[in-house]
Amino acid sequence: MKILLTGSGGQLGQELQRSLAPLGELVACNHARLDLADADAVRAMVRIEKPDIIINAAAWTAVDQAETHETEATKINAEAPRILAEETALLGARLIHFSTDYVFDGSKPAPYVESDECAPLSVYGRSKRAGELNILSSGADAITLRTSWVYGAHGANFMKTMLRLANERDEISVVDDQFGAPTWTRHLADATASLISDHPNASGIYHLTAAGETSWYEYAETIFAEALRLGLIRKIPLQRRVASTNWPTPAKRPNNSRLDCAALRRDTGIALPDWRSGLFACLAEMQS
Ligand SMILES: NC(=O)c1ccc[n+]([C@@H]2O[C@H](COP(=O)([O-])OP(=O)(O)OC[C@H]3O[C@@H](n4cnc5c(N)ncnc54)[C@H](OP(=O)(O)O)[C@@H]3O)[C@@H](O)[C@H]2O)c1
Repeated sequence: MKILLTGSGGQLGQELQRSLAPLGELVACNHARLDLADADAVRAMVRIEKPDIIINAAAWTAVDQAETHETEATKINAEAPRILAEETALLGARLIHFSTDYVFDGSKPAPYVESDECAPLSVYGRSKRAGELNILSSGADAITLRTSWVYGAHGANFMKTMLRLANERDEISVVDDQFGAPTWTRHLADATASLISDHPNASGIYHLTAAGETSWYEYAETIFAEALRLGLIRKIPLQRRVASTNWPTPAKRPNNSRLDCAALRRDTGIALPDWRSGLFACLAEMQS
């Protein structure tokens, strides 16, 4: 089996390189090797490599910067997935793509299911939703996994920011009224590999996050306690609760980012562990 991976240098992309390697020949493309803003280059890469599976882990993920760079973000998050899906369909291959909880506005008082109405609050969310729709309308054999609050040892994420701030500051403010599930790249990458090897017929949009839920505040608290225990930080900073309305950012985020992952579990048996177990395993690995 030949697999073409885009965004291989990202936090998920790096874990995917590890999880996909045993499945066959992996053509790993980081940003330098394949720029998704270059439509001709994307088409040429697919036509030359002729992969059986395309995995798109590349994205414009700078949520706040997207507010002032809508054209660029849309090119990467909506247009490139459309081109990849068209090429996937022409080739008779399969596409695996990733999307986000930010396609929802967060007003639902319960976890979101796949069929819930999308109403993104931000340019990033709109561009990711457009990418989902472009893939659906391409007719390609494709699966889109919506995930949330992604973190891992590689790249930039909330967990690593908290570890850095713990050593730099005595006091930090953390939003306590946005809820979701921090999802470890390792778990996402392993589930992606399992979808390829064990579930060739799964298609459409599915939710896939860690089990359980938390707030950014409680997530930070849990990071600090475990990181201190492991010796990754020297002290726990004083944590102050802040409401998202008092923490203005260029892009609005949903208050409810909880995604119901029952559909993928029902159709494939794939479900991720509780967010705490992923976090503890990731921190333990960083320590060692
Ligand atoms: N991070 C989250 O919390 C989160 C939450 C929900 C869903 N997701 C989704 O999960 C997927 C993986 O995200 P991630 O957290 O791994 O993001 P990430 O670490 O930011 O990785 C994204 C990768 O895409 C690359 N990229 C950006 N523009 C590109 C371009 N024009 N051409 C080729 N590559 C380009 C980046 O390369 P450079 O850095 O070199 O530009 C980076 O390696 C994305 O679809 C994202 O939307 C993420």
